[in-house]
Amino acid sequence: MTAPSARAKSGADLRIRPAGPADLDAIDAIERLSFQGDRFARRNLGRLLKSASVCVLIATAGARPAGYAALLFRKGSTRARLYSIAVDPQARGRGVADALVSAAAACALRRGADRIRLEMRPSNKAAQRLYERAGFTVFDRKPGYYEDGEDAVRMERRLSRMKAGGRGA
Ligand SMILES: CC(C)(COP(=O)(O)OP(=O)(O)OC[C@H]1O[C@@H](n2cnc3c(N)ncnc32)[C@H](O)[C@@H]1OP(=O)(O)O)[C@@H](O)C(=O)NCCC(=O)NCCS
Repeated sequence: MTAPSARAKSGADLRIRPAGPADLDAIDAIERLSFQGDRFARRNLGRLLKSASVCVLIATAGARPAGYAALLFRKGSTRARLYSIAVDPQARGRGVADALVSAAAACALRRGADRIRLEMRPSNKAAQRLYERAGFTVFDRKPGYYEDGEDAVRMERRLSRMKAGGRGA
């Protein structure tokens, strides 16, 4: 799977594809570089990569892993949950996350979801801008959701088949 708009923006050849167990080392490294607390243990990432109810996508720029996203599905639910997204610090600011969110939306649509939800720290301004650009809006707040007591903001994006691949769809 290629993300044409992101390929044009990023200097390198940006590609997005479904991740598998062979991508564990790369995703674990990106995770460690991206989060201090609230980080996935390696064995949990391994489980995500093997689960049929999770769509894990990996972005590569040239030969280098650049980022990943994990989207969860629940039986009987049309809501997908964007569980995690992270980009290698060296690859940030070039549209990798935008491309991952677009690919996650396409994956959600293929699997029959009609919306994506996520939780986010309101202090994470890069994430907030990313999600707002991609068409997510706030619908709720969970007080004290994170380990350190910070609230979570809950965001949602409705999906439409017409706009599946586009930015802000
Ligand atoms: C949040 C995160 C995923 C964003 O990743 P990213 O790939 O840098 O995001 P994008 O490149 O798509 O967008 C980032 C910025 O680069 C800008 N950008 C995108 N393409 C660009 C280009 N070709 N040239 C210049 N700037 C560009 C975007 O407009 C955006 O600017 P802004 O933040 O000032 O609005 C990343 O910062 C990260 O991994 N953070 C740590 C983990 C994390 O917080 N995850 C989210 C948890 S909810």
